[in-house]
Amino acid sequence: MANAPHFLPYGRHQIDQQDIDAVASVLGSDFLTSGPAVERFEAALAKKVGAKHAVACSSGTAALHLALMALDIGPGRSVLVPSITFLATANAARFLGAGVRFVDVDPSTGLSECKHFKEALSEMSGLAAALLPVHLGGQTANLSDISNLANRHSLPVIEDGSHALGSAYSGSRVGACRHSLMTTFSFHPVKTIAMGEGGAVTTNDDTLATRLRKLRNHGIVREAEEFQNRDLAFADGDCNGNANPWYYEMQGLGFNYRASDIQCALGESQLTKLEEFVEKRRLLSRLYDTEIARLAPFVRPVSRTDKCVPAWHLYQVLIDFRSLNISRAAFIRHLLGLGIGTQVHYIPVHLQPYYSNLYPDCRLAGALSFYESTLSLPLHVNMSSKDVGFVASCLGNLIVQSQTTLNSAGDNGQIHYI
Ligand SMILES: Cc1ncc(COP(=O)(O)O)c(C=O)c1O
Repeated sequence: MANAPHFLPYGRHQIDQQDIDAVASVLGSDFLTSGPAVERFEAALAKKVGAKHAVACSSGTAALHLALMALDIGPGRSVLVPSITFLATANAARFLGAGVRFVDVDPSTGLSECKHFKEALSEMSGLAAALLPVHLGGQTANLSDISNLANRHSLPVIEDGSHALGSAYSGSRVGACRHSLMTTFSFHPVKTIAMGEGGAVTTNDDTLATRLRKLRNHGIVREAEEFQNRDLAFADGDCNGNANPWYYEMQGLGFNYRASDIQCALGESQLTKLEEFVEKRRLLSRLYDTEIARLAPFVRPVSRTDKCVPAWHLYQVLIDFRSLNISRAAFIRHLLGLGIGTQVHYIPVHLQPYYSNLYPDCRLAGALSFYESTLSLPLHVNMSSKDVGFVASCLGNLIVQSQTTLNSAGDNGQIHYI
């Protein structure tokens, strides 16, 4: 089998001349950070997802940290986090000294559904702080059920929408916060739009938006009417009651989680192409669906959820490596040798030594089952339908090969590709 004409990573950004021009124009402007490009990006993002506010920040991790901080989440309570996610979803709770209650997932989607959150809540005797559903690969769980459950327990929902910019649930865009208080996004280069590093929190709550803005900038307050140290603020104030012109005040602890104008110019330019990117990802996913259907029962796409129209960030399949008698590592190495990059999303976070030391009794059968069979195939807008066909035919060949080896079982039937 021939190699791919070019290396196919599992995910990649697409940057064009418009993006380059947008960044270059900021580089020649008066503001490299905290300037008009940030405000323009925030307005464009809020409009795109249908939220009242978007607060840009330096990464998706910062967005999660800010969202939990804005709700004063801290020691003594735990945030409910799916075990199948990137580390940052859980780590954000730990940054604040809060606990993490890992939640199991549906083994066919990798998503934590209402019943999984409910099960976790029933074991927590009132110590929960928030529910944090993750839209794995661009697909959402049943968010209205999750939000009803959270409401019954008077708990906030924060969506980790890092994978799901452009996805819709039940007629509204992810980020519109129809079923949550806040949604966080990441604009890391493998995501649907790229900012290099970047993130955002969207919300419809004015108070939260103000808090988020404050927290991303060291906790600094600049509104004269809010100043607490009146002597320091107004010592040289003019007779109109204006505060000292240099004055700012820190009333609580914040961070430097600002996004720069350079990042936001790229984000704004990328956002104008969101629909195009999402359509291309959907087209490639449909092609994969058709090709992959031939590889059943050994390979199947993750199951689709109701009411969600995903903007696919990942094309995840479930592979029955056991029946194929080939290890996943060998499978991945073989594909890599053909120029095909794949990735596993994700190692269950509760198994990471940091967390298994904290929570040694955590057992999540659904997460383990999903982890054992999941593989993300290449999916990004630079790909062609030929690339999809190439990946699928390589998978098909590998399956035939492993079956042949299995049937003429020398060496225990096991394929060892180095
Ligand atoms: C589900 C999820 N949450 C959070 C993050 C963190 O985003 P960032 O890498 O922008 O900090 C990521 C990024 O990989 C992610 O995939």
